Amino acid sequence: MKVIGINASPRGRDSNTLRLTNAVLAGAREEGAETELVDLYKLDIGYCNACGTCYATGECTLIDDFAEIFEKMMNADGIVLGAPNYIDSVPAPMKALFDRMADAIHCQMLTGKFGCSVCTAGGSGEHEVAGYMNNVLTTLGATVVGYIGVAIGRDPPALGKAEKDAHEMGKKLSRSIRGEHTYPEQDEIHRQRREYFCQLVKYNKEKFAHEYEWYEQMGWMK
Ligand SMILES: Cc1cc2nc3c(=O)[nH]c(=O)nc-3n(C[C@H](O)[C@H](O)[C@H](O)COP(=O)(O)O)c2cc1C
Repeated sequence: MKVIGINASPRGRDSNTLRLTNAVLAGAREEGAETELVDLYKLDIGYCNACGTCYATGECTLIDDFAEIFEKMMNADGIVLGAPNYIDSVPAPMKALFDRMADAIHCQMLTGKFGCSVCTAGGSGEHEVAGYMNNVLTTLGATVVGYIGVAIGRDPPALGKAEKDAHEMGKKLSRSIRGEHTYPEQDEIHRQRREYFCQLVKYNKEKFAHEYEWYEQMGWMK
């Protein structure tokens, strides 16, 4: 059982968000997972240029660190996203990572995986940003087990309490991967989304050749 944590703060070891991401990973380890932490700011992930090559071939034309981190995500059973609130959204490197996964969304490539998100903020938006990251995981096909958002500008001790909650969430993540929790409502959302993308891919069969092949290989073509 593998869990990867992706933290997107430029503040390295001083990152508040990193404390939460690490707490989730510690909880996941306590329940038997092997974990890895990736500092997104150490990677070079370019902006998607909307060329559409990934839809056709499954390959990106940009040569940078995306392929490596995406492979790590595909090899993981659980994915933890960590980001501070930057102007009511995620920092640019996290958004760059998301934008590189349009093909993965069409193909619902995180199907069968579990995830969760953590966000720290100075004063506001922590729930919205964590919820946004969870939404991205769901859109990719993963099932989310929860999120932690905490504003610490005027209440620094709140981070300590959030760390404890993050630790519990990590344990839940591992237990979910083991099948100890079920998420029938999310299963239904995934079923509907896959049906929608299946139709999209069928309609664009020529342009989205790789995606058509993927749906056939997965036995999802209807
Ligand atoms: C560029 C920038 C934008 C920010 N935008 C917001 C914001 O919109 N709302 C907020 O409450 N805090 C905002 N903050 C504060 C951070 O979210 C907060 O300090 C966070 O805990 C930093 O996390 P880190 O230590 O993991 O980097 C911003 C900080 C920076 C540097």
